[in-house]
Parts: sequence; structure tokens; C-alpha cells
Amino acid sequence: MFSESFAEAWRARYGVDPGFELPELAPFLRHRSVRDFAPEPIGERTLSALIAAAQSASTSSNLQLWSVVSVDAPESRAAFAELAGNQRQILSAARFLVFCADHHRLRRAGARVGEDCEGLDYAEFGLMAFLDAALAAERLVCAAEALGLGACYIGAVRNDLQRSSALLGLPSGVAPLFGLCLGWPEAGCAAEIKPRLDQAVVWHRERYDPQAEVAAYDERMRPFYVSQGMKGEVTWSMRSARRVDGRHMTGREVLKAFFERVGFWIR
Ligand SMILES: Cc1cc2nc3c(=O)[nH]c(=O)nc-3n(C[C@H](O)[C@H](O)[C@H](O)COP(=O)(O)O)c2cc1C
Repeated sequence: MFSESFAEAWRARYGVDPGFELPELAPFLRHRSVRDFAPEPIGERTLSALIAAAQSASTSSNLQLWSVVSVDAPESRAAFAELAGNQRQILSAARFLVFCADHHRLRRAGARVGEDCEGLDYAEFGLMAFLDAALAAERLVCAAEALGLGACYIGAVRNDLQRSSALLGLPSGVAPLFGLCLGWPEAGCAAEIKPRLDQAVVWHRERYDPQAEVAAYDERMRPFYVSQGMKGEVTWSMRSARRVDGRHMTGREVLKAFFERVGFWIR
């Protein structure tokens, strides 16, 4: 349904012409989060193929320290939508998945062969689980978009980790990281390609440039905000800095304690 060429998608990302064409990469550049879904379902086979794509992602030492829970029951969907601040896309998505960091499975496998797996207490293996889950999820999103599906991550499942865990029946050693809405974009879905930072401030050559400035991006984001019905005078820097001012934690200030309690990042 989204059909921008490589050059069109590049212009939307950076506000300038790429000066070259690489059509094979157009599908990757034309990503946007989709929050308006048509009522058509995503069948079991399709979902199974998407999970296979996710499992095909690289994974540190092949430990595969992640799991995903699909949530179809309307009452669970409603509970997730509510704890996520009434995000309607959780209800209208054909599928809702929650990606989890998972040490439980390896601990059990280790116990069966007489290993205590104590190393999982280290931050290193917590980080590995987070990375594995993120890499798997994004590969699933790329695969879904290749089919014409739309996706929207839901970090707001972390607004109430206790409740999210209870809804999913997670044992100790498994922690919810983020949700993912999947579905067919509604006809006429207005989701747009969102501009990104200039490559010059993200891509450093040989050595990191600590003076890289985002002022040009602030300017480029203005018309995008206005097109989305948001205030143009509130820049990306202002919005983003406010987002991390520590006063808008929406329940996530307890995250460190939660992860420690369920067995991650202890040492
Ligand atoms: C881990 C993660 C969590 C996110 N959580 C939410 C969310 O709770 N609700 C939402 O509407 N979008 C969420 N998003 C989507 C981002 O807002 C979106 O990716 C970002 O604004 C860039 O827009 P784009 O994906 O359209 O390019 C999340 C994205 C990521 C990667």
C-alpha cells in the first residue's frame, strides 16, 4: 500500500535528493509506524512465517534469549490497551505480540544438564536478552512490511511491568520489553514517512564527533509536526529533551528494581 521509490523515501527522511537510486532498499526506507488497521485477520501460517523470520535474526552465541507472546483474547487486549494509556491500535491490530527477555528457558535447560547458569545474573546477559529480542522483533517487522502489513511497537507495556507480566503468565526470568501491533493498514491510512536526523550526526567516520549538531533536523521536523497537527514551534530537541526530563516516567521509574527482581541485571 505504501509505494514511495527509494529517492522519494530518502527525500522524506532527509529533505534532500539522494543523487542515486537503489530500488531494492526502498522497502526499508519507506517504513512508518501504522496505527490504523483494517479488520482483516493475519492467519496462523502468516504469523508462523513471521515468527520464523524473527527467529532467523542473529542472536548472541545462539543463546536465543528472547520469547514472544501473542495476545488474541479480547479481554487481554483491552487490559493491555488500558495499561498502555488507551492506545487504540492495540485493540484494532490483527495481532498483538509482546516481546520478552527470556532467561527462564536457558536456566531450565542448564538445570537439566547440571549447570547453575549463574552468569545470567550479570548485566552482560541481560543486555544480550534485550538485544536479541530487539533484533528479532525488527526482523519480524521488516518481514511483515514486505507482505504489506503495518506495525507499531508499544513500549507502553512497560508502564506496568507487573501487570503486563501477570497478563502473560510470565515466570521469573522472563520480562516483557515491548509490544508490537501488526495488521493490514486501513485503506487511505495517513501514516507518513518520518524525517530522521541527518546522516552526518549519526554516522561518524573513524572517530565520534561530539560537536555534531541537530539544529538542521529541528528545522526539518517543523513542517512534519505541522502536517501531523502538532505545534511547529516546539522543536524535536524540545520534545525529545522533555521526554527524558525524568518527570514523565509513566510507571517506568521502577524498571530497574523490576528487572532485578525477576533476575536480570543483578551483577
Ligand atoms: C521500542 C519502541 C517502543 C515504541 N512504543 C510506542 C508506543 O507505545 N506507542 C506508539 O504509538 N508508538 C510507539 N513506538 C513507535 C515510535 O513512536 C516510532 O517508531 C517513532 O516515532 C518513529 O516513527 P516511525 O516508526 O513512523 O518512523 C515505539 C517504537 C519503539 C522502537
